[in-house]
Amino acid sequence: MYLSIALLILVNLASLVSPVAIPNKRLPPRIDYDTIIVGGGPAGLAALSGLARVRRKALLIDSGEYRNGLTRNMHDVLGHDGVTPAYFRHSARGQITTYKTVSFTNGTVTKITPGRNPVSPGTSFFTVTADLNTTVGPTTKQLTTRKVILATGLIDVIPSTPGLAENWAKGIYWCPWCDGHEHADQPMGLLCDLNDAVGAFREIITLNSDVIAYVNGTDTPEYRALNDAAFPGWEKYLAEHNVKIENRTIISIKRVKDGSEGVHDPSLPSTAEFDLFDIELANKTDGNDVREIHQRGVFFTSFPSKQRSSLGEETGVYMYSPGRLGVDQNMRTNIDGIYAAGDANSDNSTNVPHAMYSGKRAAVFLHQKLSQEDSVWEVTRLLGSKFVKKGTRFQKLDPRLIWRMMNGRSREDDILHAGDFDP
Ligand SMILES: Cc1cc2nc3c(=O)[nH]c(=O)nc-3n(C[C@H](O)[C@H](O)[C@H](O)COP(=O)(O)OP(=O)(O)OC[C@H]3O[C@@H](n4cnc5c(N)ncnc54)[C@H](O)[C@@H]3O)c2cc1C
Ligand SMILES: *[C@@H]1O[C@H](CO)[C@@H](O)[C@H](O)[C@H]1NC(C)=O
Ligand SMILES: *[C@@H]1O[C@H](CO)[C@@H](O)[C@H](O)[C@H]1NC(C)=O
Ligand SMILES: *[C@@H]1O[C@H](CO)[C@@H](O)[C@H](O)[C@H]1NC(C)=O
Ligand SMILES: *[C@@H]1O[C@H](CO)[C@@H](O)[C@H](O)[C@H]1NC(C)=O
Ligand SMILES: *[C@@H]1O[C@H](CO)[C@@H](O)[C@H](O)[C@H]1NC(C)=O
Ligand SMILES: *[C@@H]1O[C@H](CO)[C@@H](O)[C@H](O)[C@H]1NC(C)=O
Repeated sequence: MYLSIALLILVNLASLVSPVAIPNKRLPPRIDYDTIIVGGGPAGLAALSGLARVRRKALLIDSGEYRNGLTRNMHDVLGHDGVTPAYFRHSARGQITTYKTVSFTNGTVTKITPGRNPVSPGTSFFTVTADLNTTVGPTTKQLTTRKVILATGLIDVIPSTPGLAENWAKGIYWCPWCDGHEHADQPMGLLCDLNDAVGAFREIITLNSDVIAYVNGTDTPEYRALNDAAFPGWEKYLAEHNVKIENRTIISIKRVKDGSEGVHDPSLPSTAEFDLFDIELANKTDGNDVREIHQRGVFFTSFPSKQRSSLGEETGVYMYSPGRLGVDQNMRTNIDGIYAAGDANSDNSTNVPHAMYSGKRAAVFLHQKLSQEDSVWEVTRLLGSKFVKKGTRFQKLDPRLIWRMMNGRSREDDILHAGDFDP
């Protein structure tokens, strides 16, 4: 089998040296983009940067509702510790715009429809429908692309307790790495169910010591049983660290002081932020409805999050529990040609460095996949589709193998020798 393939290649390669038969090596420009990236947070931007560096034609479409949009400063991102998220994106965009093959647009992708690839049949192809805001007003566009990266992010599900959403991300935080250091050693409240109290306290144990767990009516036998099963001795452990459990219902949270007041020196990665809140409590079981107010400097929360966009699920991307776009280690979803990066994917890692890593990784694998598809397409043109159809295995070969087969048995000094593999 291999011998006959090699022979076939040699015979067809002969046409390469004839001046009339040189095939057009470029794909006809019938597909708008190599890749469309949905979402312009750090994941989408990292993917766009990677694709720009290898001159892929890519478009990023962003609806601009970033998960950390409300936070004061972004932390724990090397070289950018303490800058605003908006500055970070601005700086990234500024650098990426110097590359010519990629572009951005404001807009919302509403639909992704897989279709038949008109250029290289059998490979991925999508029509992407987007509502775009152009200079002449809003318009709906249909764009075609070979690959899609979903970098659509997550949204935090914040309970409706008055004052919580209003003050979110400014003294009420969910991520110790992001905002803990600015509120270290301040009186802290945990906002979580009883079964999350131990885990939450362990996360901030190096930052705060005056801690009350506001479990909001979840100090019940059921939740206690969950704790007993997960960590026998939990109550003693919390008591040992003076963590009080406050079971009364949280009525409201009111800001008393804004920790962003005063000067934030932008040259300093971390500046203490002195927020202050009133948390109002009521005992729902005693009928008297006697209210009590505690003051805390900072709250650490344990709330759920969900997909910002239903686009992935609607397109048929397999969802891993808990509501994440399922990916393999190369950020590929179950749909050929669709990748997912950043908070939205199933890596279970939700921070800016992960968003950048996964966006970059998606770009790398997608670029290689495109090159591989193109190489198969080129060989098909050289050898005829019958050949490729017959050997379906061939489609799966990597570029290095194809290179070797193209070289066949030619010696290094042979005119047909293409040299060593050099992607
Ligand atoms: C309060 C807070 C503070 C944080 N602080 C830090 C920190 O200090 N350091 C850190 O490392 N991490 C921090 N994080 C986590 C960080 O925000 C996320 O990890 C990061 O934003 C993930 O990047 P992403 O690109 O995946 O998603 P996002 O940044 O959320 O971006 C997703 C983008 O996709 C867009 N989008 C969604 N659907 C569509 C669609 N259909 N069409 C077009 N666009 C679409 C959205 O509008 C959004 O612009 C913080 C999070 C919160 C909530
Ligand atoms: C587009 O413009 C409309 C109003 O003109 C606005 O409501 C919407 O948020 C804009 N969308 C984006 C993605 O900029
Ligand atoms: C895109 O949206 C951002 C806000 O998200 C806005 O600042 C910017 O001006 C918009 N750009 C265009 C070209 O509409
Ligand atoms: C507290 O519990 C009530 C219902 O018992 C709920 O409506 C509210 O969202 C909860 N608040 C928080 C902060 O968990
Ligand atoms: C905690 O509050 C809930 C709801 O009000 C109540 O059912 C439960 O008995 C309380 N637990 C304790 C230990 O008082
Ligand atoms: C709530 O009221 C009940 C009934 O009076 C009482 O047993 C319980 O200790 C109270 N809980 C708190 C936290 O004050
Ligand atoms: C993410 O979490 C889910 C549910 O807990 C788990 O099934 C999955 O394996 C995790 N993924 C990774 C990459 O750890």
